[in-house]
Order: sequence, then structure tokens, then C-alpha cells
Amino acid sequence: MPDLASRAAIVTGAAMGIGRASALALAREGAAVTIADVDEAAGNKTKADIEAAGGRAIFVRTDVTSFADAKAATEATMKAFGRIDILVNNAARAIGGASMAGRPMPRRRGRSTRSPSRPRSSWRRRRSASTRWRPAPS
Ligand SMILES: NC(=O)c1ccc[n+]([C@@H]2O[C@H](COP(=O)([O-])OP(=O)(O)OC[C@H]3O[C@@H](n4cnc5c(N)ncnc54)[C@H](O)[C@@H]3O)[C@@H](O)[C@H]2O)c1
Repeated sequence: MPDLASRAAIVTGAAMGIGRASALALAREGAAVTIADVDEAAGNKTKADIEAAGGRAIFVRTDVTSFADAKAATEATMKAFGRIDILVNNAARAIGGASMAGRPMPRRRGRSTRSPSRPRSSWRRRRSASTRWRPAPS
């Protein structure tokens, strides 16, 4: 019997990418899966793929930024599977919709970008002090 038989999971952002892969893997291990995603077409495809492989799944159109949607997904899971054991809190979208893919990393100049108030040399000193080798106490 698969390890997660009799368990139920909610996977947010399960229509695509890491969330979809998580949902498929959980279903393969026997868990019933709620696919909670804003993308209905792709979410229903994940559901269909799980069911085609013999698993159990529901799709609930969920925007994780909405409390009402999150509550509805929770209630739909309880209604369908009677329990919630696993939550994969995965959904996210790049802020501003911009992707960094293919772009060079911005070059730092002069002062460190880590802290506007601390010069870069000070950051280096602190980092090397915290990682310096010390003998074990005898
Ligand atoms: N892919 C990477 O290299 C990487 C690296 C670090 C972190 N992450 C994080 O992992 C998670 C998944 O990444 P991915 O590459 O699989 O993304 P993806 O864009 O392939 O999939 C994201 C899924 O989330 C859904 N989604 C977006 N906003 C939503 C919302 N408000 N409510 C519900 N669903 C929503 C989308 O519809 C989509 O199905 C994200 O949180 C991402 O920030 C990804």
C-alpha cells in the first residue's frame, strides 16, 4: 500500500511547475489531492492526469491572496476527502510579472547593497570574523 494512502493534501499553485509535480507525486504515493490554483484549464489538466493514473483529486479555483478562496478550498477538501493532512504552500507569482531569466546579475558598485548604512568592507570583516576557524575548546 502506498505510504500516503488515506491522507489528503492541498497543493496551492498545482496547475503548473513545482506545484503540479508535487501534486502528481503526492497522488502517486496515494494521497487525495486538492489542486488549488487560479488557472482553471491547467488545474483541471493536473486533476485529469492524476485521475488517469488512478489517483483522487479535485480542482478548486483558488486565489491564495483571498481569504474567502482559501476558506472555500479548505471546505471543499473536507467535503471531498474528510480530512487535511498535508499543505504544500507553493503558489506564487513574480512581483511585477518580470522574470530575471536570461538577464545578467546587477553589478554592485562601492557600498554593499545588503545594508545601505554599512560599507561593503565592514560586511566583509563581519562575514570573515563569523566564519573564521577556531580551535575546539579543550
Ligand atoms: N522555479 C524556480 O526556480 C523557483 C525557485 C525558487 C522558488 N520558487 C518558488 O516555487 C513556487 C513555484 O514555482 P514554479 O516555478 O513552479 O512556478 P510556476 O509559475 O510554474 O507555477 C506557479 C503556479 O502558481 C499559480 N498561482 C500563481 N499565483 C497564484 C495565486 N495567487 N493563487 C493560486 N495560484 C497561483 C499559477 O497559476 C501556477 O500554476 C513559487 O512560489 C516560486 O516563487 C521557484
